[in-house]
Amino acid sequence: MLQEKKILVMASKQCSSRVTCALLHLIMLLFLPLLIQSHSTHQHQHQNQQPFKSLQGCHKGQTVKGLNAIKQYLEMYGYLPHHHNNNTSSGDDDTFDDILESAVKTYQLNFHLNVTGILDSKTLQDMSLPRCGVPDIVDGHTSMRSGKNRHLGSTTHHTVAHYTFFNGRPRWPSSKTQLTYGFLPGVQVIGTQDLRSACSRAFDRWARVSHFTFQETQDYRSADLKIGFFRGDHGDGAPFYGPGNAIAHAFAPTRGWFHFDADEKWGTNQASDAFDVESVAVHEIGHLLGLGHSSVGGAIMYPSISMGVRKVNLHGDDVQGIKTLYNLN
Ligand SMILES: *[C@@H]1O[C@H](CO)[C@@H](O)[C@H](O)[C@H]1NC(C)=O
Ligand SMILES: *[C@@H]1O[C@H](CO)[C@@H](O)[C@H](O)[C@H]1NC(C)=O
Ligand SMILES: *[C@@H]1O[C@H](CO)[C@@H](O)[C@H](O)[C@H]1NC(C)=O
Ligand SMILES: [Zn+2]
Ligand SMILES: [Zn+2]
Repeated sequence: MLQEKKILVMASKQCSSRVTCALLHLIMLLFLPLLIQSHSTHQHQHQNQQPFKSLQGCHKGQTVKGLNAIKQYLEMYGYLPHHHNNNTSSGDDDTFDDILESAVKTYQLNFHLNVTGILDSKTLQDMSLPRCGVPDIVDGHTSMRSGKNRHLGSTTHHTVAHYTFFNGRPRWPSSKTQLTYGFLPGVQVIGTQDLRSACSRAFDRWARVSHFTFQETQDYRSADLKIGFFRGDHGDGAPFYGPGNAIAHAFAPTRGWFHFDADEKWGTNQASDAFDVESVAVHEIGHLLGLGHSSVGGAIMYPSISMGVRKVNLHGDDVQGIKTLYNLN
């Protein structure tokens, strides 16, 4: 079976802390079908898209049972503001209002869909794909495609895709160019040596285009950058939800946390049913240094990667991003 298991790797310094029991159930409801899908036949795949079927074609002005799930989804990933118990696009009603339409359009813009504001099948399909619970949009106003102006506080939407920074443009201080990294002892998901060498190569790619040097340390606790495998709710406000959702995340400077989801299948030899550790590491290190997501499909900082894909070469967009953030050249 063709495993169209596109996933999104996200990071943000603003991890959602709103993980209620209800939300958890919602997420399970959204993602469970996909988990099954990834191990099943086409026949099952068809069945498992039922939860969203009823929403196909939904547009502004309608009230359709189940729309609140889309609102919760968009809220969680930064496309809708957190408005609890409010009657304007709160996650708990089924009304398709202006705010929801605008959020859907931004989502469609980010994911290269037709920007119609209508929940067409392609949009619902992308929303059904596993991804993490931290927002794509960290300032609530602009999309991944307007990164050039985002840090200036502009809401101008660029038509040209670009790298982005975190809100407030956090970065490592100029005195801090030699960063150490360490691995959380204990959790064994892939071989220690495989992990170490994959990460070493990943760091090297960023070292070559920046003023940073990266050195491994045995002392995890004192390391500037802390790498580890975690599962479920692991205390940083950005829980993982098992296979097929978040596969990894990292935090903006200077927090230094880089977490792999221990419940995913990881590999270093491009197995078709595993995520490539080095590829994901290159992406997450970008976050550790201060880059947000880019909507350039070929960029390392594009939010998604498929199993079995090796994507380790920095794109011009990534390089331009890091150089701009640190005024290098
Ligand atoms: C609803 O949202 C409006 C504007 O976004 C805000 O002024 C108001 O306080 C909110 N009401 C509630 C009950 O949260
Ligand atoms: C939402 O609207 C309904 C009626 O339209 C109203 O009764 C209710 O109090 C409103 N809730 C909030 C939280 O504003
Ligand atoms: C966008 O719309 C056109 C025309 O309706 C369609 O052919 C195309 O497949 C759509 N693209 C996406 C990504 O949905
Ligand atoms: Zn990311
Ligand atoms: Zn984490």
